[in-house]
Amino acid sequence: MFLKFKRKQKERPVAQTLVDFPGEFFQAAGEELLLRVATVSDIPGLVAIQEAVYNGYAPWVSRDFYHELTQEKDRLYLVALRKDQVIAFIALVKRDLVSDLHIANIAVLPVWQGQQVGSYLINTAKAVAREIGLKELSLEARRSNTGALALYDHHGFTVIDVVEHYYIDNHEDAISMVLDLEH
Ligand SMILES: CC(C)(COP(=O)(O)OP(=O)(O)OC[C@H]1O[C@@H](n2cnc3c(N)ncnc32)[C@H](O)[C@@H]1OP(=O)(O)O)[C@@H](O)C(=O)NCCC(=O)NCCS
Repeated sequence: MFLKFKRKQKERPVAQTLVDFPGEFFQAAGEELLLRVATVSDIPGLVAIQEAVYNGYAPWVSRDFYHELTQEKDRLYLVALRKDQVIAFIALVKRDLVSDLHIANIAVLPVWQGQQVGSYLINTAKAVAREIGLKELSLEARRSNTGALALYDHHGFTVIDVVEHYYIDNHEDAISMVLDLEH
């Protein structure tokens, strides 16, 4: 059953069209990592990262990633790999209505955290937004996610709103943040 799903996934082209991201190498913890556009064959790795960072629970399951990668345009999903293992990813969504680049998801495998990999992904998001003429990066984070909030603060994001009881699983507040790329 799973194999069948996997084979079917590989037949579908990736739909992301945000920018032509050729892929690049970068260094973290003395190792060379590759950052490239995610494909459907990365989905098991994307789910595994979420399970690792959220105590076995993956907020986005395989079919969510599959839909995002194959059906949705104006997306850019990037994966960081060490050899063949996906160790981090970022999901970027261009939102036409508000004319910003939204960080819909970002995660780094626990053993790779604290090595500036998340920062590299955020900096890449800044560069992508500038390349396509967007003036703002945006995101939401759980009030309790102090590590993520510290990362965003470190990169100059500011709080613009608190959406009370935003998350349906535990009714936690969402902190909305933006980064002005013009100043
Ligand atoms: C949040 C996350 C992506 C950060 O990635 P990372 O690669 O560990 O972050 P970096 O190493 O680039 O951190 C850069 C800076 O951000 C801040 N920071 C990042 N994580 C932090 C933490 N847990 N506690 C305090 N500060 C933190 C620090 O200022 C850090 O600088 P320093 O290393 O000089 O202290 C990672 O912890 C993660 O995947 N968390 C689980 C998934 C998640 O919560 N995603 C966000 C959803 S909104």
